[in-house]
Amino acid sequence: MADASSLSRRMFGLTVRKNAHPDMRRLRREAGDASLHGNKFWRSSCLTMDYLKKHPLEKGARVLDLGCGWGLGGIFCAKQFDARVTSLDADPSVFPFAKYHAELNNVEIETWRCRYEKVTQKDLSRFDAVIGTDICFWDQLEDPLYNLTRRALRAGVGRVLLVDPGRSPFRRLAQRAAEKLDAEYCEWQTLRPIKASGCIMRAGPA
Ligand SMILES: C[S@@+](CC[C@H](N)C(=O)[O-])C[C@H]1O[C@@H](n2cnc3c(N)ncnc32)[C@H](O)[C@@H]1O
Repeated sequence: MADASSLSRRMFGLTVRKNAHPDMRRLRREAGDASLHGNKFWRSSCLTMDYLKKHPLEKGARVLDLGCGWGLGGIFCAKQFDARVTSLDADPSVFPFAKYHAELNNVEIETWRCRYEKVTQKDLSRFDAVIGTDICFWDQLEDPLYNLTRRALRAGVGRVLLVDPGRSPFRRLAQRAAEKLDAEYCEWQTLRPIKASGCIMRAGPA
C-alpha cells in the first residue's frame, strides 16, 4: 500500500491530496460522490494559479470561486493574496473536500450552495473578483456563464477570470465575451509542477 505522503502533491504553495489519499476516500464515503464533475483535482486549476501568480489580485480582495469543486483556485487566492473567498457550487457534496483543503493549507473559505443562474447582480456587487476553472463543460453552461459575466461587470466586479482546458462551449463563451464585453481571451500553459494547457478569459478593468 502507498504511504500517505506519496498521495499528496505540492503545487503553487498548496498541498493537494490525490484521490487515493485515505482522507479523500473517507470524505467520499461520508459525503457521497459528486454528481457534476466536482469530484477530483482538475489540472486546469494549475493554469488559474499560474495566471494569478503572474497577474496578482489586490491584497484582501473579495473573491467568488464559481463551480469550486475542491476549491483550489479560491484557496490559492486566500493563501497568496489574503483574499476573502466564497466558494460556490451547485453540488454541496464538494464542500467537505474544499473545506478540507482550506484547513490543510491554513486558510478559511465560506461556502455557498447556488447555481450560476441564481447569482444576482446584487450578490456580485459584494466581490472584487470572480474566478472559475473548468466550469463551462456543457453547451447548456455557455449562456448562464456569459450572463453571469455580464452581470458581474455591471455590478462593478474588477476582474472576471474564467479558465478552461479548451472545450468548445468555453471557447464560444470567451469569443462572445471578447466581442461583446471587451474581454481578453488567450491560450495558457504550465509545465511544472504539472503539464497543463488551455485558455483564459479575462474581463473587467482590474
Ligand atoms: C469540472 S468541475 C471543476 C471544479 C473546480 N473548479 C476545479 O477546477 O477543480 C465543475 C464544477 O462546477 C460545478 N457546477 C456545474 N454546474 C453548475 C451550476 N449550474 N452552478 C454551480 N456550479 C455548477 C460542479 O458541481 C463542479 O464542482
